[in-house]
Amino acid sequence: MIKNDLFLRALKGESVERPPVWMMRQAGRYLPEFMKLRKKYDFFTRCQTPELASEITVQPIERFGMDAAILFSDILVIPQAMDIEVQMKPNFGPYLPNPIRSTEDLDKVIVPDIEDSLGYVLEAITMTKEKLNDEIPLIGFAGSPWTILCYCVEGQGSKSFDKARGFCFMQPQAAHQLLQKITDTTIAYLKAKVKAGVNAVQIFDSWGGMLSPKDYLEFSWPYIQQIVDALKEVAPVIVFGKGCWFALKEMAESGASAVGVDWTCSAQNARYLTGGKVTLQGNFDPARLLSPPAEIKKMVTQMINEFGKDKYIVNLGHGILPHIPVENAGAFIEAVKEYGA
Ligand code: CP3
Repeated sequence: MIKNDLFLRALKGESVERPPVWMMRQAGRYLPEFMKLRKKYDFFTRCQTPELASEITVQPIERFGMDAAILFSDILVIPQAMDIEVQMKPNFGPYLPNPIRSTEDLDKVIVPDIEDSLGYVLEAITMTKEKLNDEIPLIGFAGSPWTILCYCVEGQGSKSFDKARGFCFMQPQAAHQLLQKITDTTIAYLKAKVKAGVNAVQIFDSWGGMLSPKDYLEFSWPYIQQIVDALKEVAPVIVFGKGCWFALKEMAESGASAVGVDWTCSAQNARYLTGGKVTLQGNFDPARLLSPPAEIKKMVTQMINEFGKDKYIVNLGHGILPHIPVENAGAFIEAVKEYGA
């Protein structure tokens, strides 16, 4: 039994004293204690060493006391496990030296055995669960198949992912084959994470908003739906798409326990588009954490009033930015804990 079960109750749609709160990318560069470890160990060493990954996961919890922890890892461990090389270059971001551009490239991509290739993540979960001591739930995550395809084909981050979209439009059959391989790997991976102890899973469709609503329904949504269908019996699923307000209806009807909303969609519109039934998560503009703490607190209270305290999980509308002052992040969490008091 988890002692603070606000987050799990909100996922079930139960009425709560106050909404739970966590922050996407909460284990990250705005934390001085994270920066210390970042100086000593490169990115994938941090991901692949269960001691480090679990320590980084609990760092923000020890400082701020969020209502849920998210495992420190990355969405790009999936292409790595599928035999696609992924590097994390300092001051550049993800770099994949051999991007997928043809059916020959595609044939080399494997659907791996999870224990063999990603056992270190499962170990990190076991170790994190010990550190959390059943105080709060642990969230596991994966990228959406479309978002993973973006990196696999583009070979690096991008503002528009033109090569990835071009691949889908010029070689749709190959694109669908790649998406299916990623989906099969992701389903096995998330199921293994649940077995290892995570209490909920989130799917990040960070680049879903690059697609037109029609193309989204062809290249992204069906694969996320497959993941929800496969996971919902074993754990609550949260679906988050950045720039994907147009898909909120599909998301709400998918069987997911909660739907993430970015900051470009109002609470009222998000409730309207999801039919008022599903739990929503979001949607504070990450850059608004640069406002003075007193203003952050006011805005958070207002945001809760707009979404309503029930069927709601307080979060940012996307990941926290690296240069946010720690006291501002603290004000965000505090405002939620003080709500209604
Ligand atoms: O939320 C958490 O605190 C858990 C950890 C987490 C990381 N990445 C750690 C990380 C999570 C949930 C992710 C997900 C992720 N990774 C996404 C989806 C979420 C989103 O923000 O849209 C994406 C698109 C990635 C891919 C990725 N990883 C990029 C583009 C980068 C580099 C960008 C940058 O900010 O430098 C990463 C690296 C990364 N992943 C960092 C962290 C803390 C920063 C690099 C470092 O610590 O050395």
